[in-house]
Amino acid sequence: MIPNEQLRELADKYGSPLYVYDADQIIDNYNRFVSAFDVEQLQVHYACKALTNLSILKLFKEMGSGLDCVSEQEVQLGLHAGFDPKDIIYTPNGVSFDEYRRVLKYKTRITVDNLSLLEKVGVNYPDHPIHIRINPHLMAGGNQKISVGHIDSKFGISIHQLPHILRLVKNLKINVEGIHVHTGSDIIDTDVFIRVADLIFGIADQFDDITSIDLGSGFKIAYKEGDMSTDIEKLGKAFSDRFNAYCKEKNTKITLRFEPGKFMVSNAGHFLTQVNVVKQTTSCTFAGINSGLNHLIRPMFYNAHHHIDNISNQSGEKKLYSIVGNICETDTFADNRLLNEVREGDTLVFRNAGAYCYTMASNYNSRLRPPEVMVLHGRDYLIRERETFQDIIKGQLEAEFSLTPSVGS
Ligand SMILES: Cc1ncc(COP(=O)(O)O)c(C=O)c1O
Repeated sequence: MIPNEQLRELADKYGSPLYVYDADQIIDNYNRFVSAFDVEQLQVHYACKALTNLSILKLFKEMGSGLDCVSEQEVQLGLHAGFDPKDIIYTPNGVSFDEYRRVLKYKTRITVDNLSLLEKVGVNYPDHPIHIRINPHLMAGGNQKISVGHIDSKFGISIHQLPHILRLVKNLKINVEGIHVHTGSDIIDTDVFIRVADLIFGIADQFDDITSIDLGSGFKIAYKEGDMSTDIEKLGKAFSDRFNAYCKEKNTKITLRFEPGKFMVSNAGHFLTQVNVVKQTTSCTFAGINSGLNHLIRPMFYNAHHHIDNISNQSGEKKLYSIVGNICETDTFADNRLLNEVREGDTLVFRNAGAYCYTMASNYNSRLRPPEVMVLHGRDYLIRERETFQDIIKGQLEAEFSLTPSVGS
């Protein structure tokens, strides 16, 4: 836990807005997750879409984690951070066969999530071991946008198309090493994972050489006091018992793989911002900060709740504020939030800003993306510089043209 005083010092040192990640918290999260399961072969592949900074990836590598990547560029980042290709699993959705070809050159593990691709990979790379992503038709996950295993979801191959999958695998002699399923994010009910596992065991039984099953992720973490979260120890125990019983019954040793993102990094992130303006209206008091949906879009995109503290006035009287951004859209971070009195210049910190925060940031309104700092054993490391105007114009080509048509045209 980074003390508020240190967060204030970091805001002074690096300026704001600023993302700060507590590496010790990430280490605790990782160790807690791994200790919750009692199986012979467990592999954790951190879902790096949550937070892709190279130093964070290196931290995961040092801890012994693998990586779950959803794009060619995430794979390249993983390789750049030093991951062995066999410890990277590429699990994209809706990408072209050309992208698969490029990733296959790196010899990572791959997951295939549609029949047309299964056929193309089977015809062109019959020996490359693959995972097949199944859509189990189960509704799970915190909200519609993050529920991805239901019947109307674009993810995975329908469980009802299993006969078709089996035909392709047999005819093309495809090397299927694993079955993959990911039903969504923010799943509280531990039974969902057990139900999915039972489905997957049934599917795995129909293939000859399955060496792993991949349950994706979806663990819910608490965003505010009183929030429910997945009881990872309870889940780990129940799941391990079920998994070990299956392995014993089949007399087989398979690897159990998970791809947690949010669980690993969400509570390690702090987003520091400064109050530009306190505006009293007839209906409320706005605290307008030096950031917006361009830096942290989860509240606007998912209605996500991020706990906010005024760390410049911790003993100030509690008052209600609407926290808004400086983007030319309605970018409200929080409505009617009770905060210690907010003054212009105060530093507000958004908690749980580790997952899907910086990675979803943009240059909208041509504003610069903030720097990132990692704190390990009390020491701070700048791990990404604040952008400059040069980053905004990088890659743009100024067309040489005239509005006056040339003679004869
Ligand atoms: C295939 C896959 N694995 C893992 C994850 C990580 O999920 P979470 O951040 O909820 O742990 C996702 C999230 O979208 C995903 O799509």
